[in-house]
Amino acid sequence: MSNSAKLNQPNRHIYSIGIVAALAGFLFGFDTGIISGAQEYIFHTFGIPETAADQAIAALKGFIVAAVPLGALFGATVSGLFAERLGRRRSLLFTSILFVAGALMTAFAGSIHMVILGRLIMGVAIGISAMIAPMYLSEIAPPQMRGTLVTFFQLAITIGLMAAFITNFICAHWVSDATLNWRWMFGLGGIPAAGLFTGMLAMPDSPRWLLAKGRLDEARKTLQYLYTKKDVTSDIEDIQFSLSREEGSWRDCFSPRLFPLLVMAFGLFVLQQLSGINAIMYYGPSVFEKAGFGGSGKLLAQVAIGLINVGMTVVSLQLIDRAGRRRLLFWGFSGMCVCLALVGLCLSLAESGLAAHWISLISVLAFIGFFAVSLGPVPYLIMSEVFPLKVRASGMAIASCANWGFNMLVTESFPILQTTLGMAPTFLFFAFWTAVGVYFTWKFVPETKNRPLEAIEVNLYAGRPLRELGEPVLAQTTV
Ligand code: BGC
Repeated sequence: MSNSAKLNQPNRHIYSIGIVAALAGFLFGFDTGIISGAQEYIFHTFGIPETAADQAIAALKGFIVAAVPLGALFGATVSGLFAERLGRRRSLLFTSILFVAGALMTAFAGSIHMVILGRLIMGVAIGISAMIAPMYLSEIAPPQMRGTLVTFFQLAITIGLMAAFITNFICAHWVSDATLNWRWMFGLGGIPAAGLFTGMLAMPDSPRWLLAKGRLDEARKTLQYLYTKKDVTSDIEDIQFSLSREEGSWRDCFSPRLFPLLVMAFGLFVLQQLSGINAIMYYGPSVFEKAGFGGSGKLLAQVAIGLINVGMTVVSLQLIDRAGRRRLLFWGFSGMCVCLALVGLCLSLAESGLAAHWISLISVLAFIGFFAVSLGPVPYLIMSEVFPLKVRASGMAIASCANWGFNMLVTESFPILQTTLGMAPTFLFFAFWTAVGVYFTWKFVPETKNRPLEAIEVNLYAGRPLRELGEPVLAQTTV
């Protein structure tokens, strides 16, 4: 019998679970992206001056946008507790309620404070579900489908972003009242959130969590529900074995052996955010306006960004195991650096009255393409590969706090940088960090393509430098 024939095959339930949990990824993208088209109308509704050079107003505008990553930072910090205590299923049910509450509160907000509160709530939902949904998917999926389902989640985020940009364009066009259109943009996010709630009601909990809680009978029933074969004894034994190897705490991440890994994963996320990706995702239309696009042109340009982001993420899924992680990062960082420098140049030309808006649009689109193929998905993948099993969950949680923390910092400071430095130098600042990324990749990032996770772990404990973790294990090495 072949190996694959021996593996327990999932039945059709796995696909509905994949779709429902990917809705959490969709909401992540939708609720982070919607602000790009809505902010100008929110400012208008609540009388916040659009072009004021006042620092306090710039900080307030930044905070309205940064409320989501701030909430998500908090959500990511408490997500481990939720996953452990409530379980994966009930945590996702809880976040779907938060998603609905956040969307409705923002849509019906009577003051700017309610907008901020609604966005903070959405952020908390994103932070919790961005950790728990992939965890739930990887625990429900059989090994042969794990990678696909988890990367599907990443793709769902980019589809959610694109859907938000399209919604912004349609609402701005069809709802002529500028004090109402943004309410529709946020309110529509309640529909997929309600879908997540209804869908999750029908889903089982993760068999792995049930076993960790000693609920053997329920775990067996869930596995029988998920698989075609009804004898699930060996699956239960496998899960119990892997649970027994996972007794590390987050403090272990700071041990001398593992600390460099943490720095590498943390560093990749910091650089991901300092590339300015979310300056485009959240403030794209105002950047395009500065470059010379007006009216609906700037919202259409944002739709193009969403499309390229989805398309190139699909390309990346094909390339990631062929070209390798290091090569993709090298090309990605270098390409982004050139594009950002071009955007900076075009913006300074625009400031001196020379129209270069098409070149700036092409440079921004190329920047997104380079990002989506490399720096978008690669840090998530590398972080899931390099941490030894016993600290994987804690290492990933700490790295994702870096992601949200720096996302919030860049998002909050973008309007302030714009009024102090100006838009063009701000993009040159982002270009500088992508150049740092080229060096960082060369110095610290291992090539993990086609390497068994166990070999990476052996190299790590043998004390090899980060860059060599993916090399073949030396013959004399013992663990
Ligand atoms: C980043 C997000 C970003 C998204 C854009 C992700 O990899 O972590 O901050 O908004 O890519 O697709």
